[in-house]
Amino acid sequence: MKISVIGMGYAGAVTSACLAELGHYVTGYDIDHRRINSLNSFKPQIFEPGLEKLIEKNCEIKRLKFQHVDDSDLDLGEITIITVGTPSDPNGSPNLEYIWKSVEWATEHLQQNSILLMRSTVQPGTGDLISTRFCENKNINYISCPEFLKEGEAVSDFFTPDRIIIGGNNSDAIEKVVDLHSGISSPIIKTKIIAAEMIKFASNAFLATKISFINEMANFCEAWGADVDDVKEGLGLDHRIGKSFLNAGVGFGGSCLPKETRAFTSLASNYGIKSNLLESVLEVNEYQSQIPFRIIKDVFADMNNVKVGILGMSFKPNTDDIRESPSIKIAQTLSKLGCQVSCFDPVSNQKSEEKLGSTVKFETSIENLTTNKNIILLMTPWEIILNSNWHQIFESMIEPKILFDGRNSLDPAIMKNIGFNYIGVGRGISSSHLDHLSW
Ligand code: UGA
Repeated sequence: MKISVIGMGYAGAVTSACLAELGHYVTGYDIDHRRINSLNSFKPQIFEPGLEKLIEKNCEIKRLKFQHVDDSDLDLGEITIITVGTPSDPNGSPNLEYIWKSVEWATEHLQQNSILLMRSTVQPGTGDLISTRFCENKNINYISCPEFLKEGEAVSDFFTPDRIIIGGNNSDAIEKVVDLHSGISSPIIKTKIIAAEMIKFASNAFLATKISFINEMANFCEAWGADVDDVKEGLGLDHRIGKSFLNAGVGFGGSCLPKETRAFTSLASNYGIKSNLLESVLEVNEYQSQIPFRIIKDVFADMNNVKVGILGMSFKPNTDDIRESPSIKIAQTLSKLGCQVSCFDPVSNQKSEEKLGSTVKFETSIENLTTNKNIILLMTPWEIILNSNWHQIFESMIEPKILFDGRNSLDPAIMKNIGFNYIGVGRGISSSHLDHLSW
């Protein structure tokens, strides 16, 4: 099939390359010339494992190309997929400016009987509105087919999704989108547009809830001296609960879970609903991101003398995305309070520096980052960070040599044996155990 994809951010670039890999002829469109040029020279501006190779391979066999939206001879093909961003307004509600622009542009160029497929996350009700306002009078079929791609694992998620959701009003169009996915053997749910939109929102809201739930349990564990990882094992073996997304830590970040949970709470109020649960989910998440601040406040008498090293700036490993990253939030808090903050990330130092400016220092190696620091905050468990020489790190630090493991990804016994004052999240080793230090 001939396919066009509008919006070459994370979701759009991955969707384009993966559809080409499935055998379709794909053109990716964007309004940003630099982004298009970098994709056409096989160097996407985003870091996503496996993406670069897929782009290069499919461009070379002429199944994939990238164009600026202003380029002439626009033939959008049988299906046009929208993957543009939906940033938040200051009150948390989603801003659909790019959605409207791309829908207008696409429906101007699409042929009759073609399909406009929405993959961006839009609030429930948006699809029906687009369908009646822009599609029906032009005989264009609107389909909602939300993406479930985790950054860092997006390419494999594309080819082996847990499910494919196809929401639409026209059965021929739905079947065509089923064909679009041929080669992928995952369950397909055919539903109404509004249900497809709701499934996407509910999935992310549930994942956010699961993380905040385990984080709250972690705080109980801390108080009562249990290890939340033991609790996770026992809890997760109940197949109704499951083990995934039960890792306690400094909370969820990224461009999706925080934004969409906020959007839900903000939109709910428009309909007179109070989203008590999701508001609490966000509150727990905010509390988690500030754990390092509370540790530092408990241990050190004077914030101005504290030398902090932050290991990992992206919101999770294997991505350079720093949007709503807990590392960024804590770097801002600590530097505002006068701590001397240094940061290191294997891929997102530059992006983080653009965000944080000169308020913090950036180091280009783990060794430089940890040298002469009182406290290390391990915020993002990149393999390269976990495989560090922890003995050497311990030697390079200055007292009280606190190692805060914000994702519970190190073995506490080994770290304590090396000599660190180790603190995890909900591992029964809280900063109160370090009271004697009073630095
Ligand atoms: C999320 C969803 O997982 C995808 O299914 C969805 O398609 C995507 O949003 C989207 O809407 O586009 P993503 O934002 O890439 O994907 O990140 P996640 O893997 O969900 O992680 C989000 C945050 O939660 C990260 O900061 C991660 O460290 C944290 N997390 C995750 C935990 O704190 N504990 C866990 O057990 C799992």
